[in-house]
Amino acid sequence: MRRHSLVLLFLLTAGAPHAYGQQAADGFTEQQRLGRQILAQACGVCHLPPARNANTYGPPLSKATGGGNDDLMRKFILEGTPRMPGFRYFLQPAEIDAVIAYVRTVPPPAPAPVAAR
Ligand code: HEC
Repeated sequence: MRRHSLVLLFLLTAGAPHAYGQQAADGFTEQQRLGRQILAQACGVCHLPPARNANTYGPPLSKATGGGNDDLMRKFILEGTPRMPGFRYFLQPAEIDAVIAYVRTVPPPAPAPVAAR
C-alpha cells in the first residue's frame, strides 16, 4: 500500500514538467510555462532575484520591460547589450516568444521601499 503511493507520487512528479496542454492551477498557458522554464534556465542567473547581488545582475523583467514593447524586448534578447549576451544562436524564435509571453505575466516590481528612519 505504502509502496503504491510512493510509485504514484513518483509518476505524478515525473510527469509534471511534461504536462503541457493542460491549463494548470497556476493559470499559465502552455507557452507561458515554457517561457518561465527557459527564463529560469537561460536568464535567471542574471535576472532572477537570488543573483541580484552578483556583479552580472540585470534589471528585474516584467510586464513593463522595454516599455511593454514586445519587439523592443525581442531585440534585447536577440542582440544582447554591453553586459548581456545575445541569444540569437541559443534560442529558437518560438522560445523567445515564450519568454516574452511569460515576462508579460510578471507584475512590475514595487517601487523601492523607503528606508526606515
Ligand atoms: C550574463 C547576464 C545576463 C543574462 C544571462 C541575461 N541578461 Fe538580460 N540583461 C543583463 C544586464 C546586465 C542588463 C542591463 C543592460 C546592460 O547593462 O547591458 C540586461 C538587460 C535586459 C533587457 C533590457 C531590460 C531593460 O529594462 O532595459 C531585457 C529585455 C533582457 N535583459 C532580457 C533577457 C532575457 C529574456 C534573457 C534570457 C534569454 C537575458 N536577458 C539573459 C544581463 C543578462
